[in-house]
Amino acid sequence: EAELYTEYKGVYLPKLTCSPQSLKYFEDFTFRPDDIIIATYPKSGTNWMQYMVSLITNDGDSTPVDTLSNSERAPWLELFQAIALNLEKRPSPRVLTTHMCYNMMPQSFFEAKPKVIYVMRNPKDVFTSYFHFHQIASFLVKPGSSSEFLHKFLDGKVSRGSWFDHIKSWLSADSNEQILYISYEELTADLKASVAKVAEFLEKRLDDEVMEKIAEKCLFNNMKENKVSNYSTTPIQFLDQTKTKFFRKGVVGDWKNLLAAEEAEHFDAVYTDKMKDVEYSFVWD
Ligand code: PPS
Repeated sequence: EAELYTEYKGVYLPKLTCSPQSLKYFEDFTFRPDDIIIATYPKSGTNWMQYMVSLITNDGDSTPVDTLSNSERAPWLELFQAIALNLEKRPSPRVLTTHMCYNMMPQSFFEAKPKVIYVMRNPKDVFTSYFHFHQIASFLVKPGSSSEFLHKFLDGKVSRGSWFDHIKSWLSADSNEQILYISYEELTADLKASVAKVAEFLEKRLDDEVMEKIAEKCLFNNMKENKVSNYSTTPIQFLDQTKTKFFRKGVVGDWKNLLAAEEAEHFDAVYTDKMKDVEYSFVWD
């Protein structure tokens, strides 16, 4: 861990993607009130929401998603790629992404109070997706067996820290913030209704047929086939998609294929304990 990760405010971050310069850039970033922020714990539906928001803000026009990778269209502010994008000059509304916890957001975020879309996913599926991703991403520490990785995940000793801390931080955000909480499971259950929900939150009026078209483009197979967005051009040294794809399965409940019954029970016990003070009613509960 020590070799590949740096510890930032108590959370592991990959040194290869979050350099000291990029963390400084993140801390000094000037937010605008009309920015759109997508905040997630990894593997919760980040790419899905980046795609959807890009289509919504462009009235369903797919040119941006067909010509720009999501790190260009909706950059992660704390990743090194953001520095070169000249975001200061980019017209509003800027679509920006972060995997940071609420309490780790920079001062300017709390002053500008931009709209935030927080996407969450059943943590057992997050764990499963993350486990597979760790086999192919060179900037992450090799996960070991699934049970070894389970212990690290539940202890928050993984890149981006504890899922529990992350979700609790964003759920207990100041009530003056404008945050839309939406789940991966909701997107799966009704993509068109989710497009409508996100568009409404962004105060974007779209015709029914445009929303239909956006929902269609956001289907797993359509995103998976989009060469600009499916990381097929990412160097193999960085992401080795010969083993498993970034767009891997895109389903709800795949944890059942990875966790043994007693591991799932252990997960649930830790979940119950860590989430006991959280009042939000999750779709997966
Ligand atoms: S990352 O690395 O944090 O940005 O990953 P993130 O985008 O948050 O999550 C990746 C998982 O989301 C799945 N995905 C989708 N599922 C359904 N429909 C669509 N359109 C879609 N797009 C991405 C992706 O396949 C990863 O989940 P798993 O379970 O590994 O398949």
